[in-house]
Amino acid sequence: MDASSLPGYPISRPRRLRLLSSLRDIVAEAHIPPSSLMLPIFISERHDKPQPIDSLPGHYYYPPASNELISYIQEALDHGIKSFLIFGYPKVKDEKASRAYASDGPVQVALRNIRRELGYEPVIATDLCICNYHISGHCGLPGKCRYGECVDNDGTLKLYQKIAVSQAEAGTDIIAPSGMMDGQVKAIREILDENGYWDTAIMAYSAKYASNFYGPFREVLESAPKWGDRRSYQADPRNAKDALVEVALDIKEGADIVMVKPALAYLDIIRLVKTQFPYVPLAAYNVSGEYMLVELMAKHGYADKTSLMVEIVSAIRRAGADIVITYHALDIVKLQRGG
Ligand code: PBG
Repeated sequence: MDASSLPGYPISRPRRLRLLSSLRDIVAEAHIPPSSLMLPIFISERHDKPQPIDSLPGHYYYPPASNELISYIQEALDHGIKSFLIFGYPKVKDEKASRAYASDGPVQVALRNIRRELGYEPVIATDLCICNYHISGHCGLPGKCRYGECVDNDGTLKLYQKIAVSQAEAGTDIIAPSGMMDGQVKAIREILDENGYWDTAIMAYSAKYASNFYGPFREVLESAPKWGDRRSYQADPRNAKDALVEVALDIKEGADIVMVKPALAYLDIIRLVKTQFPYVPLAAYNVSGEYMLVELMAKHGYADKTSLMVEIVSAIRRAGADIVITYHALDIVKLQRGG
């Protein structure tokens, strides 16, 4: 093609700027500052020492009150990571999801431990959902609709409010509701404000798709639904407009940060949301199945793990994500700092 037909002619020949890594660096568009990465951590009431997680190699279950949890967060802070997303693995699951809001629940105890040892240095976001606490494995309470068993959207909101207050009280910075119940952001914002927690932010899992990429995560927390699936509340992977509606609603309801999840298979959605709502911080969740693609390819010698994970996270940043939630966060920053 004749370069003079391109918009913006005259243009440089890209090839000359690709000859050295230093040349490539000075013209690179997407970067991964450590502060853009959020590291998920699993807190378990079932273990009294850190236990490797089989379905997420490289990650551990940490006991809530342990020193090892603190050292792990400290190590990440030392490498420049500033934020963490905490999930709880309760010792019992019941009909009320009671370990989700108990003041001695896994997330609440971990939060107090972190605040006591590290103050407000780490930014802590806490997942707010019940699939890992309720016996049904659903993100909402079981209910009925004309089609049979359905999740009780509105009945679940009160429970979410209770969980939100308990997390705020224990010291979270950001509540991250992931259950995809309609009206959850509004319900949580209202109850936080009513209780004086105006200073607790909300990161809404707004465009969360019903994805097969959550498989490993559901093994980690034994949180797969016991009946049916999540397609009646999570978004249909075939849809993009849905994401815009969900994001618009969440912003209106009071979300401080919105999210697209998964990330890698939904780069178009990330770009669309960033273009439509450029003034709201956007997070993208590079989920467990996407992590496993990298781990398994590397394990079988099909890819260099280092450059594959950097390629993926760069792509997510290039698409428009401000914050990337990734299980590779620590691997990436260690790489940048030379180990
Ligand atoms: C559910 C929840 C899920 C993830 C985080 N919170 C998945 C689900 O819908 O079962 C997935 C995260 C991952 O796969 O890494 N509340």
